[in-house]
Order: sequence, then C-alpha cells, then structure tokens
Amino acid sequence: MAFLFNSDAKRGAIFAEAFARELPDIPVSLDPATVDPEAVRYLITWTVPENLARYRNLEILFSIGAGVDQFRIDAVPAHVKVVRMVEDGIVRMMQEYVILAVLALHRNLPAYLNQQRLRSWQAIAPVQASERRIGVLGLGMLGTSVLERLKPFGFPLSGWSRSPREIGGVRCLSGRDGLDTLLRATDILVCLLPLTDETRGLLSAKLFAQLPAGAALVHVGRGPQLDHQALLEALDNGHLTGAVIDVTDPEPLPADHPFWIHSKILLTPHIASVTQPATAAAAVIENIKRFRAGLDPVGLVDRHRGY
Ligand code: NDP
Ligand code: OXD
Repeated sequence: MAFLFNSDAKRGAIFAEAFARELPDIPVSLDPATVDPEAVRYLITWTVPENLARYRNLEILFSIGAGVDQFRIDAVPAHVKVVRMVEDGIVRMMQEYVILAVLALHRNLPAYLNQQRLRSWQAIAPVQASERRIGVLGLGMLGTSVLERLKPFGFPLSGWSRSPREIGGVRCLSGRDGLDTLLRATDILVCLLPLTDETRGLLSAKLFAQLPAGAALVHVGRGPQLDHQALLEALDNGHLTGAVIDVTDPEPLPADHPFWIHSKILLTPHIASVTQPATAAAAVIENIKRFRAGLDPVGLVDRHRGY
C-alpha cells in the first residue's frame, strides 16, 4: 500500500514525515516513476496524471488545492473518491487576501496609487463601512470564513449559495432571484465560487450592470468565471470603480493583456491562498483515517454537482 505525492518534493517531504508519525503503515512515495502503481491506494496531485488507469487499486484521489475544476472528473473511475483540500492554511490565507482586497477597494487604494504616480495630493470623500455593502458569491468553506473575518469591520454583509444557508449577521440568499437581490445591494462583490458549467462566465456584462454604479469586484474564484472584456468596459465607462483580480483565463496572462496596466485593477498571480503542507498533511491523514473507519472523507466531491 502507498500514498503517492505528485507535487513538489519540498512539500512532499513534510507529508512523508507526518505519515511516518501518524500512519506508519502507509509509505509515502514522491516519485511516480519508481512507485509500484499497483501499491498506490491514495494519490494527491494538482492535475490528474495522464496514466491514471495504471493505479488500478486507487481508492482516493486528493486535490492538493481547494478547487477540483482542474480534474476531468469524468475520466476518474467511478469507484475512486475525489476529495478537495479542506485545511486551515488555505482558509487563513484566503481570509487575509479578501480582507486586504476589500479594504483596498473600500479605502480607494487603486485611485490613490494612481494619484501617487501622478504626484497628486487629493482626498477622495470617504465612505463609512456601515454604508459599504459586501456581497460574497459562494458560502462554502472559504466564503463563510471570509464573511466571519469581515464582520468586525461593520460592513453590511450578504452571501449567495446554491442551496439556502443561514449565517448569523449575514443576509443569505440563494437561487437566481437571490442573486439578483444580492447584486442590487452590493458595493463590493467577492467571487468565491467553484468553477462549474453553471458558474463559467457568470461575472459578465449583464451581472456588472445589476451592481449599483460605483461598485467594485474581488475575484478569487476561477479565471473562466470572469468575462475580461466585460470587466474592462465596466471599469472604463465608470460603472465599476475598481477590481482586485487573483485568477484569470489564461494563467499566466499574456504580456500584452490590458489588466497588467489598468489603473483600476490590482492584479495578483493566483496567490490568494496556497495549501500549507503541515496543515494539509494533517487534514489528509485525518481523511484517510476516516475512510478506513468507513466514514466519508471531509471535502468529498459530489461528482454530479462538480464541486
Ligand atoms: P466549497 O465547495 O466549500 O463552497 C462552494 C460554494 O459555492 C457553496 O456555498 C456552493 O453552494 C456555492 N455554489 C456552487 N455553485 C453554485 C451555483 N451555481 N450557484 C450558487 N452558488 C453556488 O468551496 P470553497 O469555499 O472551498 O472554495 C471555493 C472556490 O474558491 C474553489 O472552488 C476555488 O475555485 C476557489 N479558490 C481559489 C483560490 C485562490 O488562491 N484564488 C484558493 C482556493 C480556492 P452550496 O452551499 O449550496 O453548495
Ligand atoms: C486552490 C487554489 O484551489 O490554489 O486551492 O486555487
């Protein structure tokens, strides 16, 4: 029996150490070239390897990230459980990033950075947090944790999910009507949705038009959810005032893409949140223990929903 770690060796070494301590009967291999494929029961990876069929005894395919859209789940044999990463490190980093982005937009940082370049000393009339409405798309592990961190600032908070949710201090909405209601009353929109057929292209001209004039966007979901041209038009015609973008399609962006130099966009290279090896190893070990005890792993992907 083996656990195959198909990613960078530095993080793999941390997994190997944790397994040696907690699950000594499962050796960790860091090298697909030398592992006996028949021994591999558990595999962690970012993308599904071409030759997945060679791991005939595979039981769980773990994503090294929170998202699983990079897997072609249909190509994974039906009996293999697909599990996304649910671990504290990803949560903490996403909380930091979204707080940074929301406060940057709330306090007009893109405009002030631009003014600095122009040597222009001009105050922009401040808006109080109680008047700045935040809407979060996606109320899963990350959307919910981000909303918890936003609470102390005093922003009016709303969130949107597929199925109805309840979160204290947050107006929770669901379904198509719920989205319309949320958009009409959102000044800073945060996208934390998984990429599925339903969310692809959701951040479109139509959606931006539903936001109040002067609204802004934080996009930390997945690149293909955002129509780049629609965002540029909404920023250039002044309907939107700013955007913090961490995910794009393609990644990396080509050197001549307008996002690089747009004065209303703060752009980062898909670094909002990164799996932290020590906490991720603990989460995976716990999941294998659950699986061996006949329980579903935490983060089990519903193949039908696609997340
Ligand atoms: P979860 O699966 O825990 O939550 C997903 C949420 O989105 C759920 O609330 C779900 O609704 C909602 N949702 C899904 N589809 C729809 C839909 N069609 N309409 C309305 N709501 C929908 O995911 P996480 O919170 O762990 O992660 C979210 C995404 O964040 C990841 O899939 C990934 O794309 C992105 N991410 C980005 C990172 C970065 O560095 N930029 C890092 C990590 C993740 P319901 O509650 O009803 O199921
Ligand atoms: C993830 C990511 O899904 O880094 O974890 O985007």
